[in-house]
Amino acid sequence: MQRFASIARFRIALRYLTACACLLAAPLSMATSTAPTVVASTESKAAFDARMQWWREARFGLFVHWGLYSGAAGRWNGRPVAGTAEWIQRNAHVPADEYARQMRPLFRPKPGFAREWARLARQAGAKYLVFTSKHHEGFALHDSAVTTFDAKDFTDRDLVKEIVDAARAEGLKVGLYHSVIDWHHPAYPYRDFLKLEQPLPHPLEKTTPAEDPGYPQRADLKEYQDYLQAQVRELVEHYGPIDILWWDYSNPGAEGETWRARELMAMVRERQPGIVMNNRLYRSLGYDDPQGSLKWFDRAHGDFTTPEQAIPANGVVGVDWEACMTMNDTWGYNAHDRHWKSTATLIRDLVDAASKGGNFLLNIGPQADGSVPQASVLRLRQIGAWMQRNGESVYATTASPLDAVGWGRVTARGERLYLHVFERTKDGMLRLPLSGKRSAKLLQGGASLETSREGETLVVALPAELPDAIDTVVVLDPA
Ligand code: GLC
Repeated sequence: MQRFASIARFRIALRYLTACACLLAAPLSMATSTAPTVVASTESKAAFDARMQWWREARFGLFVHWGLYSGAAGRWNGRPVAGTAEWIQRNAHVPADEYARQMRPLFRPKPGFAREWARLARQAGAKYLVFTSKHHEGFALHDSAVTTFDAKDFTDRDLVKEIVDAARAEGLKVGLYHSVIDWHHPAYPYRDFLKLEQPLPHPLEKTTPAEDPGYPQRADLKEYQDYLQAQVRELVEHYGPIDILWWDYSNPGAEGETWRARELMAMVRERQPGIVMNNRLYRSLGYDDPQGSLKWFDRAHGDFTTPEQAIPANGVVGVDWEACMTMNDTWGYNAHDRHWKSTATLIRDLVDAASKGGNFLLNIGPQADGSVPQASVLRLRQIGAWMQRNGESVYATTASPLDAVGWGRVTARGERLYLHVFERTKDGMLRLPLSGKRSAKLLQGGASLETSREGETLVVALPAELPDAIDTVVVLDPA
């Protein structure tokens, strides 16, 4: 059992090391990026682009991790448990029945919690909300006919319906995060999924009750696949239009047809033709190295890819991508994790993603009653205030056409460039390799800025003091 903990630590360390490497590598030029080999699906490019349009323009979404683990709040039997909080069942080695028994009385959603989330998301400037319909613990937030391990049986409510309705009422697109890993279902066969995450592929291990009485009682992949298909079918049939299916997740050895992915995706697309899906039925992280390179990307495996906890130095060149990120160090609620990122960091991450052509999916981990931690509320409000003033430099923008700049980031909309100034340069000048005449002004307030030329270089003079200490946006247009 100790092995689980050390592998979990290894996995977390690996992901954080990757994240750090990405951050360090961030200012590097775009020159190192390589576009992946994209294997086309049968859908035409025009149809694909039309389906992706709202998602590409949205740029910013809110992720919500909420389930029974929220009640544990990062503690088991009174003691804090290391690792990300929604993994507590595995990290604390709790047998599935015991976990369900202890968590059940703690999971008490307050009335109207979903409206609070949705309002908060809209006020933050997010355009979509993706929430955990089922995380690895296996607890379904909807009213599922194929299990009693669901919200209907635990709370007599359909929490998916409440959340979907609330999100729609605030004008948000709706996404379901759905885990293919399931630590509760008695037939789920992968006892030691973590092993599959080590760099080398490992053979699948089947569980037998004799080996490990705490885990699946009768490993049966076919039975589990049928269950997975049935639950997802309920989700895409009973709640109106679902805009995103955010699968989680695969590793070499348990991927694709392990989940009957082709059938699963076809079933979803038939019922929700406009839906956008990530490619985690086939993969885990969304890139092959911290620079953001992908060797190949198969459109039939999903519409976009999902770097986690980091924005790759070059984005993920050549494919649609979305970076998901926590505000502290955990996805699910953990009362002990006070390692909050600053609002400045989060706004700059959002802009960083946009400047590389990607979306940013920022996470909250509400408590078991649905309340959002105050630290998250505060940050979302501050992001919202910034987006209110500067949103046009993020929404519907495309990646910077320029090499990386030292003072901030650049986003584009047609001929217009938005210069996001994070740090004032020493001499107060921004130098850009741009030809032709350009006019520059501050996005907030519209004061015009002087431009001049140094040969091939365009020079923009910043005001003596940057009006926005987090990110002052300069609009640059052809004059
Ligand atoms: C992972 C983790 C998980 C989290 C997710 C978010 O795959 O297992 O806990 O939900 O990433 O991207």
